[in-house]
Amino acid sequence: MRSSERALPRWASRLARDGDERSGAHGLLADIRGRLFRDRWSVLLGQIALHSFIVVMLSGVFLMFFYDPSTKQVTYHGSYLPLTGTQMSRALASTMAISFEIRGGLLIRQVHHWGTLVMVAAMMLHLLRLFFTGAFRRPRRVNWVIAVLILVVMMAAGFTGAVLPDDMLSGTSLVIFDGAVRSTPVIGTWLSFLLFGGSFPGHIITLSYVLHAFVLPTVLLSLFIVNRRLARTRSAARHAPPGHTAGNVRHGLPAFAVTSSGLFLVVTGILVLMAATLTINPIWLYGPADPANASAGAGPEWYLAFLDGALRLVPPDWEFVWLGKTWTPAVLLPVIAGSAFFVIVAAYPYLEAWITADRGNHHDLERPRNNPARTGIGVAGMTYYGVLWAAASADTIAVRFHLTIETVLHGFQVLIILGPIIGFVITRRLCVALQHNEREVMHHGIETGIIIRSPDGGYTEIHRHLDADDRRRRQAGLHEHPTPIPQRDVHGQVTLLERQRTRLARFLVADRQSAAEHSGLVKKKSRPGPMPDRHISGSGPQPPTRPRAGT
Ligand code: HEM
Repeated sequence: MRSSERALPRWASRLARDGDERSGAHGLLADIRGRLFRDRWSVLLGQIALHSFIVVMLSGVFLMFFYDPSTKQVTYHGSYLPLTGTQMSRALASTMAISFEIRGGLLIRQVHHWGTLVMVAAMMLHLLRLFFTGAFRRPRRVNWVIAVLILVVMMAAGFTGAVLPDDMLSGTSLVIFDGAVRSTPVIGTWLSFLLFGGSFPGHIITLSYVLHAFVLPTVLLSLFIVNRRLARTRSAARHAPPGHTAGNVRHGLPAFAVTSSGLFLVVTGILVLMAATLTINPIWLYGPADPANASAGAGPEWYLAFLDGALRLVPPDWEFVWLGKTWTPAVLLPVIAGSAFFVIVAAYPYLEAWITADRGNHHDLERPRNNPARTGIGVAGMTYYGVLWAAASADTIAVRFHLTIETVLHGFQVLIILGPIIGFVITRRLCVALQHNEREVMHHGIETGIIIRSPDGGYTEIHRHLDADDRRRRQAGLHEHPTPIPQRDVHGQVTLLERQRTRLARFLVADRQSAAEHSGLVKKKSRPGPMPDRHISGSGPQPPTRPRAGT
């Protein structure tokens, strides 16, 4: 019997062994069976996103039976008395009925909404984990791009879902969306006509419903499946080197199936508990959509707030006349800035590999502190997103802190430029400081707090020495980083772009090389030299990296 079949249930082993090998059943079982499943809490983030997605899909199917995606006006005569006699769309009336008349309707609606919020949060945290541990590098770059796409499609699904009830809040979101679409140069009006079908709100609710309930979930499901299949062929990146113990690595389908189903039940349980106890999106308090009104303090779903924040940060008089037409970048630019952010995030693995000329495969995860520049870039990105996100609450902040809205907005305008830079610098320095601390621990062991007194009256603290596994874990990612050399083009010239790329590459690897040298894992390089202008290939002598103060 093959080792991969040993712990399978008897029937499954027999199926795998005796079944038609040409069908691939044996290969599939053995493949799943042979994979390693780790018990690291951070691995759960991706699974929580997937499980929440399943809960959202199931609850969505329930809602589908009762929801009516029509903007035809009706007079409300449901059980919520304060709105009796109010004119509203059938979309809102059916959502009110789900909330107050269908048994369990409100619970399922709230599960659907909370599930969405948790799903997007888990997906974002999952991406951050992949980023800060370098799990996005070759050969998992495509997985990274797919994961970013999943996040973007989730946001789109959330947006198209949130507008469905056609209440005041969703009406406000649609008005802003229409404004952004119309401000697109040249094609704006046509695009708006296509989406809204004429006068606002037109058929946007019906269109959103089709996208929301059928198109986007199908796209999401396909992306999850493709990602899973790719992950299977590439196996998950690990904390390196092995560092595993018998306790945190388990082989096999049964163990995976049990933990995964258990986690699914836990996620579902928590979502139901949240839905049962915490009100979300109380449409009955907002009332029907009215393009002429917007309630104060209204805001989009938390994960879309960065777009709203970007809109608020643009100076209000940003428009100019050109070719006899008035152009308004005030709406379009923020949308571009928000979208460009995600394009850069998706392309980051390719950018980093191109800059550092890294063509190798990486199966080991890095500790964030061992790659200070990348960790700094990550924090800069988070700060950028965070400032845009916080700016969406500028009005609430102004009211709470008794400030003028202009003061708050000017503060955010300064922060959006300085924040990422400050975030980068501080994080990088912190990583370098943590590396220092790490070296102390590596050399002297971990302080135990136990002080002993020697016969001659002196005091010494006992240090616990690290075992081999701990030592390896702390050194993850510390290895030789060849100094980037500018390459000449076909004419034997070093182009300006190549020069800048090399400069940037040196900056990116300098702290890592320095940390590796100080850890004693690689040989120290001698004096720093000027950037060479000649093409050095292969094993020739390489100029040293510039050592950084204090590393
Ligand atoms: C990733 C997928 C999905 C996301 C992120 C999502 C998100 C949302 C959100 C945020 C709402 C507003 C809920 C509220 O009123 O408070 C909503 C409404 C709705 N969703 Fe989904 N949904 C997803 C998938 C689905 C699927 C697959 C279906 C149907 C098969 C569905 C059907 C509905 C319906 C009918 C509504 C309107 C009723 C209501 O607002 O309560 N959704 N969705």
